[in-house]
Amino acid sequence: MSVRIDHGDWLDLAPSLDQASIDFLYADPPFNTGKTRRTPPNAARAGRDANTQYADRFESSADYIRFLRERLAATLPALRPTANIAIHVDWRTSHLVRLLLDDMLGPDRFVNHLIWTYGLGGSSPRCFARKHDDIIVYCLDPRRAYFLAPRVPATSRRLAGTTKKATDVLDIPALNNMARERTGYPTQKPLALLELLIDAFCPPGGAVVDPVMGSGTTLVAAQRLGRHAVGFDTNARAITVARGRLFPVAAATPRRQRPESAGD
Ligand SMILES: C[S@@+](CC[C@H](N)C(=O)[O-])C[C@H]1O[C@@H](n2cnc3c(N)ncnc32)[C@H](O)[C@@H]1O
Repeated sequence: MSVRIDHGDWLDLAPSLDQASIDFLYADPPFNTGKTRRTPPNAARAGRDANTQYADRFESSADYIRFLRERLAATLPALRPTANIAIHVDWRTSHLVRLLLDDMLGPDRFVNHLIWTYGLGGSSPRCFARKHDDIIVYCLDPRRAYFLAPRVPATSRRLAGTTKKATDVLDIPALNNMARERTGYPTQKPLALLELLIDAFCPPGGAVVDPVMGSGTTLVAAQRLGRHAVGFDTNARAITVARGRLFPVAAATPRRQRPESAGD
């Protein structure tokens, strides 16, 4: 499976994607928190990225939505007619992203508003603790879009040891600082989440693009599942971290059989 990683702005790199070549666009952009996102405290252990940061600040919500709109518009020609789009955001902008995609694609292209519930993080004395992210999913053509319902372990005692269809609430732990897959890159998402999404929304052998790939989680998950993957990021550290994760995986995959004419 091919893996391509490019350093640069999603807007500039989107036109370099072949037309109608991508089955699944997953984007986990900055959330417009107004902060600089840094390597979490105590996450910088040996062999991990110790001091990485990226800016998560926009002039306004309108500026944030403009940022997404122009990049999504530049990427649409690269999507196959059966493609799905998942935008991973949180309570700050999920309502605006839903309106944006209604406007760009049409409300009939809405597929799911997935809730990723993760448990980690603080709580407030003023409201219910905010313990989920929102993954807004649309497709290009509701009659042709690819979907394979993922199965998760059944939770009831009667069905113990079996699986059931996943619902739109995905209960997957966030990465703690001791997690083996933790790279030290800020806001890294768990492989289990990306594997579930790719399995559901991208056909085997298909192609995934993550134009704001950070540590490259989407690309690692895609490669593990036998999908082609393309990733972009403006942050040079993201490129280094993602390449470090990807190429050992690539090296571990079985070598293609050599042709018979090679004399084997
Ligand atoms: C939330 S992080 C992605 C984390 C990633 N999902 C992971 O698991 O590591 C968002 C990323 O978007 C990148 N970014 C911000 N603006 C960008 C742009 N215009 N083009 C490409 N990447 C951008 C940041 O550098 C950051 O790495």
